[in-house]
Amino acid sequence: MRKIVVSIVLLLGFIMMVQSQTIDIKTKSSISRGKIVYEKYCLTCHQADGGGVPRMNPPIIQTTYVSGSKERLIGIVLKGLNQPIEVNGDEYENPMASHAYLSDLQIADVLTFVRNSFGNKYPAVLPSEVKVVRAKK
Ligand code: HEC
Repeated sequence: MRKIVVSIVLLLGFIMMVQSQTIDIKTKSSISRGKIVYEKYCLTCHQADGGGVPRMNPPIIQTTYVSGSKERLIGIVLKGLNQPIEVNGDEYENPMASHAYLSDLQIADVLTFVRNSFGNKYPAVLPSEVKVVRAKK
């Protein structure tokens, strides 16, 4: 009896491990595609380490914008941002332009990359989520 219980527990553990790895592979490929999008469209302002440029371009490391509502975050890429904001005690008021010309997949990938880089660790953003926010405009 004990052997059966042990085998079931081991089997369940194995299934869970395989499952979490499949999710990981999807997120991982999104992250590596997103890195290329980031380097092309975001890096000049937010920098290679996500640290931004003091008083010009805000850092995107564990900010409430990056960690918080996905809808708001997606909206920033789609519509840009043009209002004074405070990040880590510093004021930023340069505008960020809209990047609505990027595809749903590119925006999902770049945000998944940002949310899993520079010390960030937040769930992936999916193209379907970008699509919903884009449709609301
Ligand atoms: C021309 C420079 C520039 C580019 C390119 C740019 N940003 Fe920004 N970004 C800014 C500025 C400036 C702000 C602050 C805007 C404000 O205060 O209204 C900002 C704000 C943000 C914020 C919210 C504030 C924060 O620090 O968390 C996020 C997230 C963000 N940008 C992500 C991106 C991503 C992702 C890309 C690429 C798709 C990108 N930005 C491209 C300049 C830029």
